[in-house]
Amino acid sequence: MTNDVNRMPGALMALESPELEGKHLVLGLSGGIACYKAAEFCRALIKAGATVQVVMTEAAEQFITPVTMQALSGRPVYTRQWDQREANNMAHINLSREADAIVIAPCSADFMAKLLHGRADDLLSLMCLARPIDKVPLLIAPAMNREMYAHPATQRNFGQLTADGATVLGVGTGFQACGETGDGRMLEPDQLLEDIVAFFAPKTLAGEHVLVTAGPTYEAIDPVRGITNLSSGKMGFAVARAAREAGATVTLVAGPVGLPTPRGVLRIDVKSARNMLEAVMERAPAATIFIATAAVADWRPAAPSAEKIKKDGSGEAPALSFVENEDILARVARTDAARTGALFCVGFAAESHDLASNAQAKRLRKNVPLLIGNIGPDTFGQDHNALLLVDEHGHTELPRASKLALARRLVGEIASRKSAAA
Ligand code: CTP
Repeated sequence: MTNDVNRMPGALMALESPELEGKHLVLGLSGGIACYKAAEFCRALIKAGATVQVVMTEAAEQFITPVTMQALSGRPVYTRQWDQREANNMAHINLSREADAIVIAPCSADFMAKLLHGRADDLLSLMCLARPIDKVPLLIAPAMNREMYAHPATQRNFGQLTADGATVLGVGTGFQACGETGDGRMLEPDQLLEDIVAFFAPKTLAGEHVLVTAGPTYEAIDPVRGITNLSSGKMGFAVARAAREAGATVTLVAGPVGLPTPRGVLRIDVKSARNMLEAVMERAPAATIFIATAAVADWRPAAPSAEKIKKDGSGEAPALSFVENEDILARVARTDAARTGALFCVGFAAESHDLASNAQAKRLRKNVPLLIGNIGPDTFGQDHNALLLVDEHGHTELPRASKLALARRLVGEIASRKSAAA
């Protein structure tokens, strides 16, 4: 067995499969300008492997045509409850029985109110009412003007729909088609997709609070210069996303990276290793799992200059001296919670050679139950990677795959080790 998991023969994308493969979704559109986003959302669902049956209200047809939605979904769209294409003329029964979930996107304020009262005077509301409530979840993506969104009636309806078993997805904030700015926009198609994928993920980390560090740190030399490294933060962000999908409450302490925050994750931006240490130590008492993916700078300039260092004309470079940064992972691993097993600590090791032996030595040195080895130059900035899981029993390879696929596997491994340790 080779130590270099990235170069393993045949180490292809064995872990990859479309995220919604095998899922059949009914995508319901009610009337709202956000219908224009439903076209892109439908495409995203199909690309993620789902089959999609579109159902539209009459109001939705004012904003987008069934032709568009049929072309994108590859299936005739249903718009009326009287539909002779169905042998029994009961589209509301047939469509709802086949679905793994019904997603209403956009869900207008009016359609929410209809759902709430159990009204059934058009195909979409009739189908929602007729669905087997224990088997076919209902997810709604609200879309409305900010005043309509903030209205007590709408807020009351959110609460009641949730109590009735629906999953109310969030809303976006910003410029609205009406010209006003505020809360109530429908989420963007990629955000909706992220929420749907998370909805279906097994909740292996339910009840856990996961604290993740990610990205590089930046150690200032003066106000305009500093020392950093090539870590992109992609692995840590993928781990945070996968942990949230698995049902955990997730806090992500991120060094300077330009990546979007995974949905449902609390992000704390930091710059230096010392900022990161402070943010982690503040949040660690609430955590049950700590995953240190960050490429923390080992050293920082001993005396950063308050002003920009100028050339003095001598041709001599300024002499810099360094001090070592404290090891965040090792510090957390020394806390009582970590030593008793209440806080499960996972480290990463970026190595250039002898991965298995270096990673095992690092695991013992840092005193953590699990350490994930990878080859630094092969992972920094890449979308794919390969991992070596090192624990007290030896090591396990996760072959080359996307960082998100690896993160999902890793979260599953952490969940089973954490519950075995409990
Ligand atoms: N780490 C940390 N704080 C530091 C340095 C490292 O929390 N000051 C964590 C990293 O997030 C990672 C693990 O320790 O989970 C290993 O990081 P790595 O850079 O591979 O190891 P080092 O301890 O710095 O050892 P070396 O660079 O000598 O290989």
